[in-house]
Amino acid sequence: MKHGLFITLEGPDGSGKTTQIEKMREYLQDQGNQVLVTREPGGTSIGERLRELILSRESEEMDPLTEALLYAAARAQHVEQVIRPALERGKFVICDRFIDSSIAYQGYGRRLGDSVSIINAYAVKGCMPDATFLLKLDPAMGRNRIEQKQRDRIELEHADFHELVFHGYEELELQYPQRIIGIDASREISEVTEDILQHLERLLER
Ligand code: TMP
Repeated sequence: MKHGLFITLEGPDGSGKTTQIEKMREYLQDQGNQVLVTREPGGTSIGERLRELILSRESEEMDPLTEALLYAAARAQHVEQVIRPALERGKFVICDRFIDSSIAYQGYGRRLGDSVSIINAYAVKGCMPDATFLLKLDPAMGRNRIEQKQRDRIELEHADFHELVFHGYEELELQYPQRIIGIDASREISEVTEDILQHLERLLER
């Protein structure tokens, strides 16, 4: 049985998710809540090893379907080993990327379409976020924030790929208005935080 609250953050690379997650953690902990912050791909020892494999520049030959399956495999491990147990203990779980990343990046970006949702429904076994903050920022702007030499295999993809990913996110936002909260991430960091925390407060009241 699930008791905690599961929140995910999504958005283009360089949209400031990590910074905002730290603000959310502080806010929730200050109110006496137990908070678990985690990320995808990763969050478990197996997941971190898969992350290394997926994102390495040496994995250039990786087939898109292999990529989608590896993200889903890392997610299945993460859900069973970390996310579901934490929720069952009543914790707040904040996850940097989750299922929507696969739909946006592999479904739209790699053009794998609906198969990605099917693979992932199987991987998460009903463990879906209660709320998702989508940090909306022009992908070109986001990418400019990441130094060329620090870019991983996905971040190195051409601009058209990142445009498709962003379009995917916008489609998801339209499809799941109850769950996905769009946030204008082109503003000052403090304004973005204020916006997110206001939404979070409303979520806690529910
Ligand atoms: P990060 O840099 O935000 O940690 O994410 C790693 C990269 O992996 C990022 O470029 C987005 C990508 N990604 C996918 O393509 N599909 C997924 O399912 C996830 C979780 C991330």
